[in-house]
Amino acid sequence: MREHGVDEDTIIRELKGACARNVPYERVLSSMCTTPHPIAIKAHKEFIVSNLGDPRLFPGTASLEHACIGMLGELLHLPSAVGYITTGGTESNIQALRTARQLKHVDPGKANIVLPESAHYSFDKAAQMLGVSLRRTPLDDEMKADMDAMAGLVDKNTIALVAVAGTTEFGQVDPIPAISKLALDENIFLHVDAAFGGFVIPFMKDPSKYRFDFELPGVMSIAIDPHKMGMSTIPSGGLLYRDERHMKSLEISAQYLTSQVQSSLAGTRTGASAAATYAVMRHLGMDGYRRVVSECMDNTMFLRDSLVDMDIELALEPIMNIVTAKLPDAQSTRKKLCDMGWFVSTTSRPEALRMVVMPHVTRDVIEAFMADLKKIS
Ligand SMILES: Cc1ncc(COP(=O)(O)O)c(C=O)c1O
Repeated sequence: MREHGVDEDTIIRELKGACARNVPYERVLSSMCTTPHPIAIKAHKEFIVSNLGDPRLFPGTASLEHACIGMLGELLHLPSAVGYITTGGTESNIQALRTARQLKHVDPGKANIVLPESAHYSFDKAAQMLGVSLRRTPLDDEMKADMDAMAGLVDKNTIALVAVAGTTEFGQVDPIPAISKLALDENIFLHVDAAFGGFVIPFMKDPSKYRFDFELPGVMSIAIDPHKMGMSTIPSGGLLYRDERHMKSLEISAQYLTSQVQSSLAGTRTGASAAATYAVMRHLGMDGYRRVVSECMDNTMFLRDSLVDMDIELALEPIMNIVTAKLPDAQSTRKKLCDMGWFVSTTSRPEALRMVVMPHVTRDVIEAFMADLKKIS
């Protein structure tokens, strides 16, 4: 740091310069984040100073967080669910597994978690931090968790099962009703990672096709991210529990704070995310989110059809707003597109190129993208 500070105009110029170097979302088909809804940005700015790590100093902000959990609980078929606004899917997944470890005593070093190969890498972080091992099960032909393999890996040291509603790479949904039954039969905590799909599935034409939430009796916790398809600001995640006892298992004494106990992972944590999430959920309502998802799905099918018209095979028919295309050299296509200013992803399957059709990926964006893809094909 400099000895003497710099004037505001210079700093604003520096900030604008840095901002201008960022990739505009309109060129990004690789991310599960998007431009937040304007009302979320407004709310975020208003609450930038609140610290939900010390909630009794910010009772107004805490009431917004409480209201967010209420709305998310209703969305996930359990209005009485408890939880808090996290920084995103990673924190929610870490905390859910930490809960599972608190609830079931297993000899140190022996605890394991059974989850599909497609589960997000945040579970690897969680496993390292918690000192538990992960037993990743293979997927079936449609990239869903293989139920028989999952059941076969469970033993007396299994502290949790994980299922995914909207996998990161392919947007697939695991057979969660069957996994819920397995969890109940074996009396194992089941966490559902709906970080992406939680704000998609309930707003699809037929949500009952993909049952994933608390209506399934074995589901004990859910990660759902407002900063992905919820159109809230970063960092906004949601972690919900079926039972207050689950969240209480994480409580740590925090004597110097107004609340005396804390269950969140972070100590000091922003209240701006709760305000932003509250604002956008209240503002859009169920029909607003249905419109967002319907538009994304129409654009997804437009992208899908445009690829098929070019004789490009799909890696999987889109379930939600993720398109995966089979290309002989996906990695080099990704690089060529990147040179043209487009960001797409490759996946753990070497032949698959992945494109996420977030709200900023409009029909115009897709047409421009396809025109460039044709140039390099
Ligand atoms: C299914 C799923 N879970 C968890 C995460 C991690 O979320 P975050 O990056 O917000 O921590 C992601 C991120 O894309 C995801 O797709």
